[in-house]
Amino acid sequence: MAAEQYSYEPDEIGEWSELKIRIVTKYAQAYSTILANQRYLKHYYIDGFTGGGVALRKITREPVETTAKRILTIEPPFVGYHLIDADAAKASAMRLACAGRVGAQAHCGDANELLPRIFETIRFDKYQRGLCFLDPYKLMLSWDVLQAAAVTRAIEVFLHFPTGDIQRNVLRHDQSTVDPESVARMTAMWGDDSWRQAAYAEEPDLFGTHTVKQPIDSLLVAFTDRLRKVAGFKHVSTPIAMRNKTNAIIYHLIFATPNATGLRIATSILKTESTQKGRPNGNKLY
Ligand SMILES: C[S@@+](CC[C@H](N)C(=O)[O-])C[C@H]1O[C@@H](n2cnc3c(N)ncnc32)[C@H](O)[C@@H]1O
Repeated sequence: MAAEQYSYEPDEIGEWSELKIRIVTKYAQAYSTILANQRYLKHYYIDGFTGGGVALRKITREPVETTAKRILTIEPPFVGYHLIDADAAKASAMRLACAGRVGAQAHCGDANELLPRIFETIRFDKYQRGLCFLDPYKLMLSWDVLQAAAVTRAIEVFLHFPTGDIQRNVLRHDQSTVDPESVARMTAMWGDDSWRQAAYAEEPDLFGTHTVKQPIDSLLVAFTDRLRKVAGFKHVSTPIAMRNKTNAIIYHLIFATPNATGLRIATSILKTESTQKGRPNGNKLY
């Protein structure tokens, strides 16, 4: 189908985005199957950055169904779905996609504002559970969203950690060239400015010390530690690098959960999908 035939501007995606769509959909299938079997539990799918339902493969422009669109068709179904996108045309396309699924709602708005309110409706004490996918284009997620998810003790999260955007726009060797707006976005996602301690270190030299940029692993380890120790997720996966054809890291996918079984299943899917032969990711995690 040509792009003009969509009621919204479909995103163009690379192979790394298709990998992410497969990973999250595969986990959602396992999650829904397991939770539907525990009849006293009610399980929900929440997506903060849904897209319009179809994206287009770069170069060939072949249509690829997005994560939320696929998850809407999973059997057994979730009890409810909250699908958010800030783009009105994408949200209304998803509203149409929701029509065939009981309990599915598409919302147009800012995920950072809407998600904490939706999370409050998922009550651990009422046997409700949620799987949430947070897949922004770049640094645009607020730490408050992650904190609000963890506080429920009922919500698991797949998170797109925008490594490429951070490397390009925040962690420059020459900090004087960084736009203060990028720093503010980084601090908003991190929850405070302690990311600086993970990103840079003072190293001794002949004249005293100088600031040295640390490898990206240092930032990833610090962020997963924060998800555990500050947000309060009991279990957090190793971040999995999503790479382009030239093996450059575009972003990392991280899974955070209150549930040990969830972590075991997600880790197995992350590893299997990202180490399959022919994938640019190879078997490198970072
Ligand atoms: C990377 S795409 C999502 C791709 C999708 N998750 C998939 O599986 O293909 C990011 C989406 O976030 C939307 N978006 C951007 N800013 C947003 C915000 N503040 N709140 C909610 N959605 C936003 C964009 O319109 C875009 O559709």
